Amino acid sequence: MSSDDWKRQAAEQALSFVEDGMKLGLGTGSTAAKFVDLLGAKVKSGLKVVCVPTSEATRAQAAALGIPLGTLDQHPALDLTVDGADEIDEELRLIKGGGGALLREKIVAVASNRVVIIADSSKRVDVLGRFPLPLEVVPFGLAATQRLIFQMAADSGCDGEIKLRAGADGTPYLTDNGNHIFDCSFGTIDDPEALDDALKLVPGVVESGLFLGIADVGIIAGPMGVEVLS
Ligand code: 5RP
Repeated sequence: MSSDDWKRQAAEQALSFVEDGMKLGLGTGSTAAKFVDLLGAKVKSGLKVVCVPTSEATRAQAAALGIPLGTLDQHPALDLTVDGADEIDEELRLIKGGGGALLREKIVAVASNRVVIIADSSKRVDVLGRFPLPLEVVPFGLAATQRLIFQMAADSGCDGEIKLRAGADGTPYLTDNGNHIFDCSFGTIDDPEALDDALKLVPGVVESGLFLGIADVGIIAGPMGVEVLS
């Protein structure tokens, strides 16, 4: 079995949290896309849901599958969001944003009554920080923002390289919100809450990829089977 199979297994298990009539948040990334595919098949066979996508990519995928879509303004309180993650620890703390959708993902997740994270076992870590932490930042004053992120992170015990993410054409990556992303290779993040608090004090930082106290359930699939953390 490959990581693709495990992502699908986790997505299948997440379907058991979906009930007829629910308002759903749809995550972004290759694992979330598997859930969207499976949900599309359920909708075809009669499941009634309305979904709020967390990115333009997910919106396009869901629309092509005939999944009914709405906006968060139309449905400000969602029943359930299913999303992937770049890292997940034992306390269901996450790093997200590898796919660049962290801001909308966090807004949608926090508007949801329940958040289910699906992942293959490579995403599971004892301590967050192997995956570079994405920070969504406004385009204005990038160098000043980068400098301040470095200082604030150092004050909370983290340091390392902070790189502006590049898009496919080599220019700075643009999020769906017209912002950029700094990928921060801080290494082990011993106190994610302290780091998150510090980063939020940097005016140019719109949101961090640390999702703390947001996930309710983690479904991790791998060679040892499917494990549900809650
Ligand atoms: C996108 C995300 C994704 O959930 C995360 O990057 C995981 O993606 P994948 O399932 O492709 O590994 O946070 O912003």
